[in-house]
Amino acid sequence: MNIIITGLQWGDEGKGKIVDYLTESADVIIRAQGGNNAGHTVITGNDKYVLHLLPSGILWNAKTNVIGNGVVIDPAGLVQEIERIETKGIAITPNKLLISDRAHVVLPCHKELDAAREAALGDQKIGTTKRGIGPAYADKINRCGLRMADLMDREFATAQITRRVAEANAVLALHDLTIFDAGQVIDEVLTAFERLRPHITNTIPILHAAWKSGKSLLFEGAQGTLLDIDFGTYPFVTSSNTTAGGSCTGSGLPPTAIDAVIGVCKAYTTRVGSGPFPTGDQGLSDFLHGLGREFGATTGRPRGCGWLDTVLLRFACMVNGVTGLAVTNVDGLDAYETLQICTAYDVGDEIHTLPPADRSAWARAVPVYETLPGWQCDTTSVTSYQQLPERTKSYLNRLGQLCGVPVAFVGVGPDRKQTLVVP
Ligand code: GDP
Ligand code: IMO
Ligand code: MG
Repeated sequence: MNIIITGLQWGDEGKGKIVDYLTESADVIIRAQGGNNAGHTVITGNDKYVLHLLPSGILWNAKTNVIGNGVVIDPAGLVQEIERIETKGIAITPNKLLISDRAHVVLPCHKELDAAREAALGDQKIGTTKRGIGPAYADKINRCGLRMADLMDREFATAQITRRVAEANAVLALHDLTIFDAGQVIDEVLTAFERLRPHITNTIPILHAAWKSGKSLLFEGAQGTLLDIDFGTYPFVTSSNTTAGGSCTGSGLPPTAIDAVIGVCKAYTTRVGSGPFPTGDQGLSDFLHGLGREFGATTGRPRGCGWLDTVLLRFACMVNGVTGLAVTNVDGLDAYETLQICTAYDVGDEIHTLPPADRSAWARAVPVYETLPGWQCDTTSVTSYQQLPERTKSYLNRLGQLCGVPVAFVGVGPDRKQTLVVP
């Protein structure tokens, strides 16, 4: 069974936890897009891991983990991440982690260009993670990027990096920002590359062989549908196709290899970074932050929080072809007396049941809410779906009904064990 796990909101839906849960019955875990802008949290008993570029399957023994061609890799960042995980006693051998030779490289100057662009945008800034994701993907599309395979040829890599650093410096100088020394950049990138070299390979035939021999493949989506470069709240999005299709183009496995798509969403909505957020609610944000919840796993920024938005989820289920929902963080709503679910947007002259494309409609969108009673009890120690309060089940059923997709998994806490399977 080959499954894509995809985020249905603005990222941080709990994909890492669901991937980790499903890894037990998978053989190969694949990241196919994004970079270290992602932060996937996995909690196993007393241990907490936050993974940025490494697939979450790295925490399990005897699983193959692949960073596919669609990912952008900061070599030094990946080396640091590997070392951090290895200090926790998890060995990362070349058999356990395969890195595509076609994956593009994020250079130190991409990060600085990302920051410069944000500064120039002022109050219109995207609120990026400043990991250089946009500039690295821009170079890829502009056909001037550097791929992992290019780093094998030191002479070519040196010339390419020197050229790119000179171009970046010209832009950075205009903003009075730090100018890079090409020699230092080359040294940093090539030193990290040597550490990664044993892992770098043509991952495409390896993935095809795994598929053809009946192994189970699990795609670990990063970011979420509303951050997708095509389907998200453009321009307040990331720079890759975060939706299910991105798993195919970012790995070289075709759509015919896919058996199911699990869409992950929270029982409410969160967003970190700028852009429209019709159901954002200061009261819910303050409440969840007060519980120490909803701080970004990559940047530590507080996430904006709001009510469940099924306008977004309905669209996300469409474009991803979601076959089952994984609803996480249900326990976050345990204390609430009444809950709101947004079913449509009122934009003044029209009612939208799908997200609009134009910015002015987003600016005018007023959520149309349906109110449901809260369950007002602790769900964190519930160990089976049947044990959930009837009102929780009603909330989840209504969510599934409004999206046209059944709920398959429910999260009632951050631990690996706090995942319930819907019968
Ligand atoms: P990802 O980027 O989609 O993998 O999600 P993140 O790890 O960035 O953010 C999800 C947050 O919710 C993390 O702190 C998780 O530990 C936590 N989490 C995931 N599922 C649940 C759940 O069902 N309940 C609670 N309380 N926390 C959860
Ligand atoms: P995971 O995989 C939440 C957001 C940033 C910003 C926008 C663009 O953990 O769900 P970028 O650095 O990609 O150019 O930033 O996208 N963003 C995320 N938000 N979760 C993520 O990943 C994100 N990755 C990027 O906050 O709004
Ligand atoms: Mg995250």
